[in-house]
Amino acid sequence: MKVLVLNGPNLNLLGMREPGIYGSGTLADLQRELRDLAGSLGVEIDFFQSNHEGAIVDRIHQARADGVAFVIINPGAFTHTSVAIRDAFSGVSIPFVEVHISNVHKRDAFRHHSYLSDIAEGVIVGLGMHGYGLALRYVHARLSGASTR
Ligand code: DQA
Repeated sequence: MKVLVLNGPNLNLLGMREPGIYGSGTLADLQRELRDLAGSLGVEIDFFQSNHEGAIVDRIHQARADGVAFVIINPGAFTHTSVAIRDAFSGVSIPFVEVHISNVHKRDAFRHHSYLSDIAEGVIVGLGMHGYGLALRYVHARLSGASTR
């Protein structure tokens, strides 16, 4: 049961970046918490963050070769711009949950549209860092064959 957590541009700055919006936890804190949760759930977890669109596309392609069963992705600003990341998910047919720390629907109009949401299995917005852990619990239930509806 392999899960890949992908974070897009500027999410390496968590903790110092607009803390009023994104909180004070760092990406390292987040990854530690998710690793602990994954351990208790018996899920194998891997992490990748990049500020480069092509690197994220390449990592999604690699995920298929690696046998990743599910991706949890916060695409950052690429959410609102990237046909390439959308096509990468369509190309590898790996299900994914889209996570946003902030409630993008309360923010600038250009953040209201996502190139990924309509092909995502689900979307979690506005629950802060908790969104990732909730997504991981969902993925675990889903991959364990539990009813998720
Ligand atoms: C974000 C929301 C995006 O609009 C923004 O560009 C980000 C972070 C979030 O997690 O709330 O970088 O994806």
